[in-house]
Amino acid sequence: MTKALREAPLRPASSETLDPNNWDDIRAQGHRMLDDMIDYIANIRNRPVWSPIPDAVRARFRAGLPRQPCDLGEVYREFADFVLPYATGNVHPGFMGWVHGGGSAVGMLAEMLAAGLNANLGGRDHMPIEVERQIVEWTRQMFGFPSKASGIFVTGTSMANLMAVLVARTDALGRSVRQRGVGDDGARLTAYTSTAAHGCITRAMDIAGFGSDALRCIGVDRSHRIDVAALRERIAQDRGAGLNPFLVVGSAGTVDIGAIDDLQALSALCREQGIWFHVDGAFGALGILSPALAPRLAGLEDADSIALDFHKWGQVPYDAGFLLVRDGDRHRDAFAAPAAYLRRESRGLAAGSPWPCDLGPDLSRGFRALKTWFTLKTYGTEKLGAVITRTCALAGYLEARILAEPRLELMAPVQLNIVCFRYRADDANTVNGDIVIDIQESGIAAPSTTLLDGELAIRAAIVNHRTDTCDIDALIAAVLEFGAQRSRPDAGLVPQVEPSPPLAM
Ligand SMILES: Cc1ncc(COP(=O)(O)O)c(C=O)c1O
Repeated sequence: MTKALREAPLRPASSETLDPNNWDDIRAQGHRMLDDMIDYIANIRNRPVWSPIPDAVRARFRAGLPRQPCDLGEVYREFADFVLPYATGNVHPGFMGWVHGGGSAVGMLAEMLAAGLNANLGGRDHMPIEVERQIVEWTRQMFGFPSKASGIFVTGTSMANLMAVLVARTDALGRSVRQRGVGDDGARLTAYTSTAAHGCITRAMDIAGFGSDALRCIGVDRSHRIDVAALRERIAQDRGAGLNPFLVVGSAGTVDIGAIDDLQALSALCREQGIWFHVDGAFGALGILSPALAPRLAGLEDADSIALDFHKWGQVPYDAGFLLVRDGDRHRDAFAAPAAYLRRESRGLAAGSPWPCDLGPDLSRGFRALKTWFTLKTYGTEKLGAVITRTCALAGYLEARILAEPRLELMAPVQLNIVCFRYRADDANTVNGDIVIDIQESGIAAPSTTLLDGELAIRAAIVNHRTDTCDIDALIAAVLEFGAQRSRPDAGLVPQVEPSPPLAM
């Protein structure tokens, strides 16, 4: 031990712990923070959706490591003045970019409680773990999985998809793969998804060591649903070449346009072929809570595993990704690893095995389950399902507004809550890219973009429970206004794509 450590004081003066000298002061400060954040959410409409970060503000956050203490009130003021006004914006009902949930005041309060408990949900025997187990059980029931199913909170669907690849790998090659590595047998494993699938599936194959070439991206129909016949053909072709198809990843809500693959056909094919069937249900899987959408997710109940995010359509604050696995033993086979310092007991704090650390790569884990538990209990699944249904109805409203406006063009059928469209212009890709940035910088709304067949689309994903028709109207007005500014007036008008069939809701 170093001299400095040997001579450090053993009994701290009260000022040397991290607790406040005066609990009343921190209580008052905490109440102020809570009031401010409740006001922030309650009055979110009065703010711009997003504001560009001024250079001076960004520069403040390039300061050196703080060595000396600073008054909490001052630190909080810095947060209130320089962090809060320049957040992502997804709390705002005008936020429609990417696929971001809106969160809720209930979820925020639950996060505060979780932070107070400071629980580590890697393992051991305590109620926070039971809360997570409760969510696993509710999620199992939601998707009609058997009692043997297991589940775990993770950061997001990117991580859940990666873990599903690892579970499928261990199922295909046996537990010994974890000692020996994938080797020659692993080099023959091939996986399948559609060209419309999220890029994190390609990354998962890469990170898992198979390489992205081992993922076959099968073509899609006009609605971006995987071509099941082409998939069958490719599997046969690969088997004929001596390869070992081990995993099919279906999409329940593609990231670009919200397409749902034919999950029944995929699950039947996988069962027939002895292939692991995983579903990326990042946002779409929770459509199961909407009576209008649930029938379109038929087949999900037969998946071997499902990845989903409670932080998207579930409106739980970030982050709250989740992996559900039909056969809990297969799930544990992929991750559980004994260690003397994690010895399990039948009583005491080390009881309660299996622990969540047996179901994923993380040992230290926060209490994501609490904000999800509060959200599910406070609102109930019927109300959350109604929110999901309404976001799809709003997408339908946006679609109708686009179809009624000759200056706009619908770029893809609207199937769920995502609408891809553009302002008609000669150099449409450049003009629409600029329009989206102009709108974001204006603070009026926050759509994002994607490419569909090489054409840039303005993409509006209606996920936030606060979004209303007035937000859709504001988006349309902004696209038309910035479009007129950005494009030449003689842009050719071409026919609209066919309107989508109405959603039964
Ligand atoms: C279909 C789909 N899969 C995966 C992801 C990645 O999820 P996450 O951002 O939670 O990692 C997303 C994100 O939007 C998605 O839409």
